[in-house]
Formats: sequence, C-alpha cells, structure tokens
Amino acid sequence: MTLWRPAERIRHEPTPGRWPTAAEAAASRLFQPLSVGPLRLAGRTWVPAMVPWRATEEGFASASVIDWYRRFAAGRPAAIVVEATGIRDVPSGPLLRIGDDRFVPGLAAIARAVREASDGETRLLIQLIDFLAIRRRPERTRYLARHLEITAGHRERLNAVDADEATVRARLIALDDEALRDVLTARETEALFVGYRERVTDVHRPQVRDLPQTLPGAFAAAAVRARAAGFDGVELHFAHAYTMASFLSATNTRADGYGGSRAGRLRLPLEVYQATRRAVGADFAVGCRMLAEECIADGHAVEDSAAFATEFARAGMDFISLSRGGKFDDAATPKVGEAAYPYTGPSGYECMPSYYSDARGPFGRNLGACARIRAAIRAAGCATPIVAAGGIHSFEQAEAVLERREGDLVGFARQALADPDWFRKVRAGRGAEVRLCRYTNYCEALDQRHREVTCELWDRLDLASAGSRRAADGKRRLLAPEWRESPEPVSGGAPAR
Ligand SMILES: Cc1cc2nc3c(=O)[nH]c(=O)nc-3n(C[C@H](O)[C@H](O)[C@H](O)COP(=O)(O)O)c2cc1C
Ligand code: SF4
Repeated sequence: MTLWRPAERIRHEPTPGRWPTAAEAAASRLFQPLSVGPLRLAGRTWVPAMVPWRATEEGFASASVIDWYRRFAAGRPAAIVVEATGIRDVPSGPLLRIGDDRFVPGLAAIARAVREASDGETRLLIQLIDFLAIRRRPERTRYLARHLEITAGHRERLNAVDADEATVRARLIALDDEALRDVLTARETEALFVGYRERVTDVHRPQVRDLPQTLPGAFAAAAVRARAAGFDGVELHFAHAYTMASFLSATNTRADGYGGSRAGRLRLPLEVYQATRRAVGADFAVGCRMLAEECIADGHAVEDSAAFATEFARAGMDFISLSRGGKFDDAATPKVGEAAYPYTGPSGYECMPSYYSDARGPFGRNLGACARIRAAIRAAGCATPIVAAGGIHSFEQAEAVLERREGDLVGFARQALADPDWFRKVRAGRGAEVRLCRYTNYCEALDQRHREVTCELWDRLDLASAGSRRAADGKRRLLAPEWRESPEPVSGGAPAR
C-alpha cells in the first residue's frame, strides 16, 4: 500500500535555520524546565510515541526494544513516550504489551536503560492503547463461500427466498463486483473489499457493547503496571484510529449514553481517565494523546477537540499531546491478504506529512489547531501543558511554537528518529551537526509493513562497524550511530549525515 500524497506534489525541504550557540540554547525557551503535573522536566523537548516493531511475538520488551529507548535517552530529550503498548492480554504480534504483570520486568528494563543513559534526566512515559479487531482483506471466493453469513436479506435481493445456502453462495460468487455490492450490505462489502473492521458502534457485539464497563479498569490496571515498572507517567492513547479516539469521533453514534452528543462521546474517555487517576494517585503523571482534528469527512474539527481538551484539563490531566488525522475511514484499499492501515489516506497524511506536499507544506500543519485548543484550555483557567508536534526539526521552529503559544512542549518524532542526539547537539551549540530529517516517510513505510523501523539516513552507515545489531534483513543497522562531542564547536556547514 502506498501512502497518500496531496495532488500538488510540491517538494519541501526541511530548513535548519540558524542554530543557537550553547549560551543562546541555555537561555532559550526550549531548554527551560517545566512542571508536567508531578513531574519536573528539564526542558520543553518531548519525543512522542513511535512504534519500532521490535517487541517479541508475545509482546515482551526484547533487548532490541530496550536498546532503542536507551539510544533515544542518550540524546537527552526532556521526555520520551514509549510506543503504543497494548493494554489487553491478547496476542497482538510484535506490539509491546502491558496487559498482565508478566510484562512488568521487561518494561522495567526499558525504564532502567533510559534512566542510566540519560543520567536520570529524561522522564519516561508509556502510551497505553486499546484497539478493536481488524482482519485482512479476504480472497473473494473464500469469503463468499465460507465467511459471509447468509441472511434473509441476501436471499431477498437475489430473488431466491427458498434457495438453500449452497445455492445462495454459488449465486453470489457468480456475480460481478458491481452486482455483488447491490446484494451485500455496506459492512459486508467493506469486509469483502477492504477487510472486516470492528467499530465502537457495533453494540450488537457484547464485547463492544461492554467497552464502557471493561476499558476503565483495563487502562487503570495498565497504568498501575507502568508505575510498578518505574515509568514516570502514562499517556492514554485517545488519538488516531483506535478505540478511544473512535469514542470521541463525530462518527460515534452509540445511543447508550456513550456517543452522539459531545458529552456522550467524551463520557468513556473521561471515565477511563478518572479510573486511571484513582488507581495511580496524584503523584504519577497521567495525560492523553488526542486529535486536534480528525481530518475526515464528517469527522470532528477543532471546536470539538477544544471542548474535549478543556474537559480533560478540568478533570486534572497532567498534559495533553495533540496529533491529527490517522484514521481508517479514508485509508487506502489493501491488497488481498493485507489489512487496512490508518496512515494511508488523506487523514494519514495529516498525521505524518511527507516532503511532497501542498502549498501549506509538511511542517507545522497542526500548530494552528494546537494554538486554538491551548487558548480554550487557558480561557477555562487551566494551565495544563500542551504538546505540539508535526514536522518540527529546527531550533527556530521549536522556539516559535513556544513563543507563539502553540504549545508548551515541542514534540520531535521523526526528527528524533533521524537524529536522537538533536537535543544534546543543539544544547551544546552544535546544531550544525544535526542529521536533519527529510520527511521521506521511509520509516513510516517500514512501520506499515510491521518491519523493524529504522531511518534511511543512518541505517546503512558504517554497517561493518555496527556490531551484531542488525535488522532481520541483515542490511540495516538497528540504531543510529553514536555521536561523540568533538572538542571544538562546529560553526556552520552542512547538516551531518
Ligand atoms: C514509525 C512511526 C511510528 C509511530 N507510532 C506512533 C504511536 O505508537 N503512537 C502515536 O501516537 N503516534 C505514533 N506516530 C506518530 C508520531 O508520534 C508523530 O505524531 C508524527 O510522526 C508527526 O510528528 P513528526 O512530524 O515529528 O514525526 C508514529 C510515527 C512514526 C514515524
Ligand atoms: S526515514 Fe529518517 S529521514 Fe525519512 S522520514 Fe523517517 S526519520 Fe525522517
């Protein structure tokens, strides 16, 4: 599946701007401390969650996951959020999990590695995720012959009310795709041509109906495990294509008090937060990641997000991290045998915009919405810090975010992947040595295929001296090369590669 790109296809280059001297960095907004609930952060730099697909098949933290976070911590951002981690005790492939106490020792090893590599400077949070079932796109005949549940509706639309099941299936298989769409329901058509996907509105399914009863406890238990593992806080994943964002979504029409109106859509996310807070107390950071805009037709816009964020702030969340888009609703159609992926459509582009873009470009597309949401929270009398992210790679951009009050913390996701030492380099007055992200989304394409995520700017550098840590394909190094501070600051020059 290819990632969607705007039709304009204007090529945008990341610009480093002017890097600060060490003294300028020390005096800058970006490197001033900030309290985030009970946490004291050394600066305003934040590495948002990024799934690197390195956990074991059973969801345990492997040596590779631990190394990955150790490498980020060596760059000393003020905070790192560990990748989306599953809160249910169900098999989820190599996605990190926290749905049982048996995962705690592995997670504790991540927390120890981060503490050691940053000399205790980097604060560590973990993103807690719940997601609903999604299946691969089935092969046509197999779906119609075996998986589709034959109903009276099919018989009626085929004018075959008395036909036996085998006959109905044979008739369906013989239809062309267009005729088939007239006989199947919209959901069956989706299951056939895209792959079955469960929704929060599927209240006829008991496990979906009961989510308001099961999820608060599951999130709370996961947060308790995160605290036991030595994390400084949790980020509740209320963004993108997953369960909690689907509750907040304008497309949530549940009629059981957990959908429809803004208050209804907000209800379960608030209950999840409250249960989590009750379980961990006030001295453990609890915040969320949510969407500033859904970026889909019929999705919620910034007004709804501002109202949601204000209620989260009033309820006592310690931070709110804002993302955008990343929905299944407009995802590309997968090939047979593959599952739909939420970052392949226009809303996916908004979430992780790449260098081929429209006139607005890929840098800071979410900042206007962030500023509006932050202003709404402040107008309600809350001081909750906002994390703004999206295409931030230069010191000047980051300072401007803080100066223009678009955020209180600046998220660097792909830039931190391209160069985990961005933070140390800039603080040391060595910004010219930063390996600037090109926003090609090579890393994201790996993520999409659930392959170990690396960055094209470094994964083939010095392969011979990269030791034994290589990706499964043997062709890529798993970690960014080490950076050693040279004795003299480098003035100007091209970004280091
Ligand atoms: C490889 C990869 C994995 C990601 N995984 C997550 C994730 O687990 N949770 C999340 O909220 N966002 C995830 N994101 C989105 C980033 O956190 C971030 O919002 C996005 O990349 C835009 O910021 P940037 O322009 O600084 O990269 C991921 C992004 C990438 C590139
Ligand atoms: S592969 Fe590297 S350069 Fe390309 S978008 Fe990802 S982090 Fe940036």
